[in-house]
Amino acid sequence: MTYQHEYQASIDTPELFWRQQADAIHWFREPSTILAKDEMGIDRWFVDGELNTAYLALDHHVLNGRAEHTALIYDSPVTQQRVRYTYAQLTEQVALFAGVLKDAGVGRGDRVVIYMPMVPEAAIAMLACARLGSVHSVVFGGFAAHELAIRLDDAKPVVVVSASCGIEVDRLIEYKPIVDEAIELAQHKPNTCIVLQRPQCLCDLVDGRDLDWQQAMIAAQPADCVPVRATDPLYILYTSGTTGKPKGVVRDNGGHAVAMNYSMATVYDMHPGDVFWAASDVGWVVGHSYIVYAPLIRGCTTVLYEGKPVRTPDAGAFWRVCADYQVKGIFAAPTAFRAIRKEDPECRLAAQYDLSALKTVFMAGERLDPPTYDWVKTHIQRPIVDHWWQTETGWAIAGNHMGLEPAEPKAGSVTRPSPGYNVQILDVKGMPVARGEQGSIAIRLPLPPGCLPTIWGNHERFMNGYLNTYPGYYVTGDGGMLDADNYLFVLGRTDDIINVAGHRLSTGEMEEVVAGHEAVAECAVVGCASELKGEEPLGLVLLKDGVHICEDELRQQLIERVRDNIGAVASFKQAVVVSRLPKTRSGKILRKVLRNIANGEDYQTPSTIDDPACLQEIEDVLQRQR
Ligand code: COA
Ligand code: AMP
Repeated sequence: MTYQHEYQASIDTPELFWRQQADAIHWFREPSTILAKDEMGIDRWFVDGELNTAYLALDHHVLNGRAEHTALIYDSPVTQQRVRYTYAQLTEQVALFAGVLKDAGVGRGDRVVIYMPMVPEAAIAMLACARLGSVHSVVFGGFAAHELAIRLDDAKPVVVVSASCGIEVDRLIEYKPIVDEAIELAQHKPNTCIVLQRPQCLCDLVDGRDLDWQQAMIAAQPADCVPVRATDPLYILYTSGTTGKPKGVVRDNGGHAVAMNYSMATVYDMHPGDVFWAASDVGWVVGHSYIVYAPLIRGCTTVLYEGKPVRTPDAGAFWRVCADYQVKGIFAAPTAFRAIRKEDPECRLAAQYDLSALKTVFMAGERLDPPTYDWVKTHIQRPIVDHWWQTETGWAIAGNHMGLEPAEPKAGSVTRPSPGYNVQILDVKGMPVARGEQGSIAIRLPLPPGCLPTIWGNHERFMNGYLNTYPGYYVTGDGGMLDADNYLFVLGRTDDIINVAGHRLSTGEMEEVVAGHEAVAECAVVGCASELKGEEPLGLVLLKDGVHICEDELRQQLIERVRDNIGAVASFKQAVVVSRLPKTRSGKILRKVLRNIANGEDYQTPSTIDDPACLQEIEDVLQRQR
């Protein structure tokens, strides 16, 4: 099958195309209606189909002769552990934990918040929720109590699942006090908190609320898979928007399962028995899609790695894992390879390992800069696939489809749109631009299966944020260009979202936290180029009249504030005091110009600016800082 043929079929006859892809998974009730509008007018896939995502990921393989194949490998250099789970063993654990959740009152449609480090129990908890037809919401462990509290209030979980601690290289991060504080801060109180006690650090349990994971498992009876409708939610994953309140991206069961199975074969060329390693975290969409659901639905072996690309113990960690488990496809953010390159510029450590099973290196999450591409290509000598997607879509909008018809890569391009995604570049009026011209990257509706149908509890935000800007299109928030060969070039966000070490963060949210400091009158946070992390936030701070404070002291306080409110993952480490911020005459801060100045780029003074002289002043302040 050629790419062009498959892509065209997906655009011309989407219902026929996706019906065929849906045939590849097991339904409890086959869908007869492939695409229909819901009561909100949103396109929904496989509306009358019934299935269970955990059944597809586990039981189905056990019942079809793959019980003894390895489903999941846990590799943890930070605890010196390696554990293999066969499909039969993982199914048993998931069914038991589903029993624990059921006993705790979790039923179909109920929410469960999971706040865990990279341990197999995190995946077990996710799959157990799917088994019961309940809805998980995993919160990344690098977020602080306040962020967790916001998610508790929005998702309103019956149960929270956590662990006593996480391990960041050689540092213990106590998770339980963070969970306790978040529950304290939140208006909504979960009934039960199930805690995995890790031997590295035991925590106190609250009487009458907290349960010990191991003890609960001993007492539990396995629970069966609950059939759900294709359109029922499987999970909510919060992601940064432009305001302080994160958006709960909703994923359904049916479209997601079909998209996971299809993308695993088409984008990644992964087939039953192949070993796939997404070196991410279950707290991000990459972890949901390609550590947990897609590899298991496809019958592959997935690697769940509790470590870093460097320092656990060295910059050879990625190559060691690839060799130990005969990994066929590795997927990581470019920042991880930049970290490896920094410590092992000649990539000498890779030579110590047998990488013969490795076929492809996949990268996403942020822009793949040409030096990183060249470095990995030169030293690893495998196809490097840059692919572009978002939490909202759950799978690649564009990429080089290794299981279909790999294309000749072009520098700086994420290659071609994936089947199902009718990618268009629009001008400010919403009209398609000519080939080679830049604009806003949009996807013509319907979105393919797997993409979000709404924002949890806030459909209006979904409409206003994605669908209302250009009727008939979903706007991605990224700018870019399609060339004459239909290759897509992604040029970066058009809003105030930044990408720090592959982590998506809202500058607006950081601004709210910084502006909450008693000395601060106003501030702007912009993304500043960083050699390692791609971007890092920089705060430009205007003090209140009459306030005198040592700048170093203020900077330290602001860093602590962002750490305490958002989390260490924000990497907020730079703040400078300025005496004016550039604004339009109507009072809107000109963030784009600030970004240009902060990155030493050329800029044009906007005609709407009310005080052009302040730009030179900011340039001087930042120059002095450097
Ligand atoms: N729990 C608690 N804290 C966490 C955490 C977690 N799960 N993950 C990160 N943090 C903390 C880190 O310890 C660090 O704290 P510090 O400021 O006190 O040192 C801070 O958050 C920032 O983390 P990070 O941006 O990851 O920086 P780092 O210096 O620890 O590591 C890299 C740098 C490049 C090695 C690392 O960012 C990396 O591996 N990135 C890959 C990104 C990725 O997988 N993205 C997913 C999308 S594909
Ligand atoms: P997230 O929702 O965390 O996956 O972040 C999605 C955003 O990350 C996208 O909207 C892009 O801005 C950026 N992104 C993801 N993958 C790529 C890529 N391959 N190239 C450029 N930017 C990317």
